[in-house]
Amino acid sequence: MRVGIIGGGGLVGSCTGFALQCGGVVPEINLIDVNGDLCRGQALDILHGAALVADQRIRATGYESIPETDLVCITAGLRRKPDESRLDLINRNVELFLKILDDVMAAGLRDDAIVLVVSNPVDVLTYLATRRTGLPPRQVIGLGTMLDSSRFRGLIAQDLGLPATQVTATILGEHGDSMVPLWSVAQAAGLPLEKYPGWSPSKADELFKRTKGSGAEVIKLKGGAGFAVGISIREVIHTVALDSRRILPVSSLVSGQYGMGDVCISVPTVVGEGGVRAQLELDLWPKELSGLQQSARVLRETIDQVLKTNPNAAKAAAGRGGNGTTSGASRGGPPPASANGQGVRVTMGSGGSNASAGRPRVTISGQSGGGRGGY
Ligand SMILES: NC(=O)c1ccc[n+]([C@@H]2O[C@H](COP(=O)([O-])OP(=O)(O)OC[C@H]3O[C@@H](n4cnc5c(N)ncnc54)[C@H](O)[C@@H]3O)[C@@H](O)[C@H]2O)c1
Repeated sequence: MRVGIIGGGGLVGSCTGFALQCGGVVPEINLIDVNGDLCRGQALDILHGAALVADQRIRATGYESIPETDLVCITAGLRRKPDESRLDLINRNVELFLKILDDVMAAGLRDDAIVLVVSNPVDVLTYLATRRTGLPPRQVIGLGTMLDSSRFRGLIAQDLGLPATQVTATILGEHGDSMVPLWSVAQAAGLPLEKYPGWSPSKADELFKRTKGSGAEVIKLKGGAGFAVGISIREVIHTVALDSRRILPVSSLVSGQYGMGDVCISVPTVVGEGGVRAQLELDLWPKELSGLQQSARVLRETIDQVLKTNPNAAKAAAGRGGNGTTSGASRGGPPPASANGQGVRVTMGSGGSNASAGRPRVTISGQSGGGRGGY
């Protein structure tokens, strides 16, 4: 899989390039950045270590590499200031992001390419990319709460004196202030976290609060996040490249799941070849479900504000066909999954595909229709 990183000269982009190098899975890494010298410098620095890692082609390129690129990762963006919320960044970042999308499309974005959005506010920009590119929604993924979930696991592990890989805990919703921790499924080495010695509701609150503030904490200390976000991006890219079908908290267009619609938001998502293969609906605690729905409302309100105040964004959201509902269809792809019969719904844990046969533990809303992924 050939990967292009737009913003590859920057902190997030270059850390992503390095993380991909250390993984040794993708054969080609192209860094693209308006800052040509910085970009060439980062590519050269990564290349200098190639002999000790893997046989990968690593270079700084321009947009001319886009037609040969299987996955376009967009990390170019303006950094959050210490006291600025991610959503406040939107007004500064939307214009830049739309310009990049237009440049990518003009360069020849492939119909089967995956677009991975990292720039903030990531859920809002993922929504605009879903609409603007006209790619089937399954091919547009936002990093969502991948980094938040990884931070969460690391901080819980550190506090309890456990190895971080043995802590499984997930954050869903907005990559921002309304993110939702899923305490109902948090575990340490397969054991319920809430039963773990030393665990208490106040500790849970404290760890989640620190996780939510982690971005600001890192910005204050070192200017911006790099290593952990690079590793989080690598996890998504490897999952696509290897068709691992891992369940990741990434952001993509939802159409009915958990009672949410017409926003890009993080839900448990099966990722593999072709991008989003399914979005999982689990029984959540009522508090978690209402938190997730609130997060979707926050995002939808922001999208509405942007569309009202920014004519370019409104045009982008109207999609390539210009009617605002053409995402996917304009490039011949399937419509987004729907919870009311358009998409495949498989029920696991109640013995079959008939959701009404029993109370479902997990439903999988697949994205129906043909296409490369064939789901
Ligand atoms: N989603 C997440 O979890 C997450 C985590 C950390 C950072 N971010 C976001 O990532 C973005 C980048 O952060 P950073 O710390 O790497 O910033 P940075 O300033 O270090 O890098 C941004 C790079 O983008 C480049 N750029 C600007 N316009 C461009 C264009 N038109 N084409 C190509 N390149 C262009 C700049 O030259 C710069 O090198 C920000 O929006 C930040 O908020 C997201």
